[in-house]
Amino acid sequence: MPLDKKLIVALDTVDADRARLWADAVSPHAGLLKLGLEFFLANGAPGFARISGAPIFLDLKLHDIPNTVAGGVRAVLNLRPKMLTIHASGGAAMIQAAHQAAASAGADRPMILAVTVLTSLDRQDLEAIGVGAGNVAEQVLRLGRLAIEAGADGLVCSPLEVAMLRQALGPAVKLVVPGIRPEGSATGDQARTMTPAQAVAAGADWIVVGRPITGAPDPGAAASNIAASIQ
Ligand code: C5P
Repeated sequence: MPLDKKLIVALDTVDADRARLWADAVSPHAGLLKLGLEFFLANGAPGFARISGAPIFLDLKLHDIPNTVAGGVRAVLNLRPKMLTIHASGGAAMIQAAHQAAASAGADRPMILAVTVLTSLDRQDLEAIGVGAGNVAEQVLRLGRLAIEAGADGLVCSPLEVAMLRQALGPAVKLVVPGIRPEGSATGDQARTMTPAQAVAAGADWIVVGRPITGAPDPGAAASNIAASIQ
């Protein structure tokens, strides 16, 4: 199935009935639907199987020893997600293990995307966990390089990091970008945002949008408007 639409809609809920309604409404406008940790822990594989209409991005941000992460990736391959996330800070061996596990699915394998530095962390937070040298952007670039060299297909990054990563890592690396707010919508807990069109212009392959769509009175119309703004 072609993933040619650049909009990914985050269906962040533990309620599988609600997620299904959202999926039905937004799927005509979305390249992928994103299911995260809260949905998957609450509903598991049976809940995943209820969501259809577009390919699924399963955002579990795996981080463990290589053998365990590889086992986790293999455990969800039968669900056929098109994207899976891991933490780049798990290190090269863990990223390679995730890549190899995904590759065992053959042509239909999921893309492995690495999260570098969570956007909730600032420089002080990094210092507190012993990542003292340099600034946040340097750490994002260091982990981004490491992840791509170890076999990740792409990165999840903030809108403010897209241009830097695109320039440093080249056109082949897939960049998936949350922290998106259409003009005029509430920022919520996303502090540093761009509009859909700005993020795509900066080099995003896909943008991830949650609450501006799922919190709208008409999620289908909200998704349609955003999709139109990035055609
Ligand atoms: O509702 P909102 O548009 O803020 O949703 C953004 C989605 O992207 C959420 O599912 C969130 O977990 C995810 N995300 C993020 N920031 C990151 C990584 C993922 O907001 N750095």
